[in-house]
Amino acid sequence: MEHYMCKTWDELEAEIKGCKKCKLCQNRTNIVIEDGNRNADVMLIGEGPGADEDRQGVPFVGRAGQLMNKAFEGLGIDRSKLYIANIVKCRPPNNRVPQEDEAQACLDYLRNQVLLVSPKIIVLMGSTALKNILGAEHKITTSRGSWIEKKGILYMPTWHPAALLRDDTKKIDFWHDFEKIIAKCDELQIDISK
Ligand code: URA
Repeated sequence: MEHYMCKTWDELEAEIKGCKKCKLCQNRTNIVIEDGNRNADVMLIGEGPGADEDRQGVPFVGRAGQLMNKAFEGLGIDRSKLYIANIVKCRPPNNRVPQEDEAQACLDYLRNQVLLVSPKIIVLMGSTALKNILGAEHKITTSRGSWIEKKGILYMPTWHPAALLRDDTKKIDFWHDFEKIIAKCDELQIDISK
């Protein structure tokens, strides 16, 4: 059955508030819905909140987020011109990967966010975002750095910023992938610059 889509942000926020659709609700401090600009042409999708995000209720504010911000500084990208969300809105215990039932329970909210933002470009950061949005057959190692077009949206898979913390060599890939995003934004006259 097609899920009912909320037509306004107020309606969607009201629906998400107090969500108990999966077991991740049991240990959360805050539901982490979004950050940035709801009218953005570029949307970023991560995996799920970590400890810092759970505490503050904002995505990508912990170590991975700070590294991402640093890359954006260098690239001249203004984070506030993007829209940022995650596959799951509540923190998985010990930052484990969201389980299938958790991701599925949460995905309708994310689809509704995509519908309301209506971005031209979606950046899929990491395997969890890639597999849940474009399908389990996609591999981040082979997909990253190349555009995939689907239903009028351009998708760019790239490494999750947390992967850069574990493996320095991935930083250069992440940088190159965002250079491609900047070039595409120039082409489409989308302003994401500082
Ligand atoms: N990692 C994610 O995938 N999302 C966040 O919001 C923070 C860390």
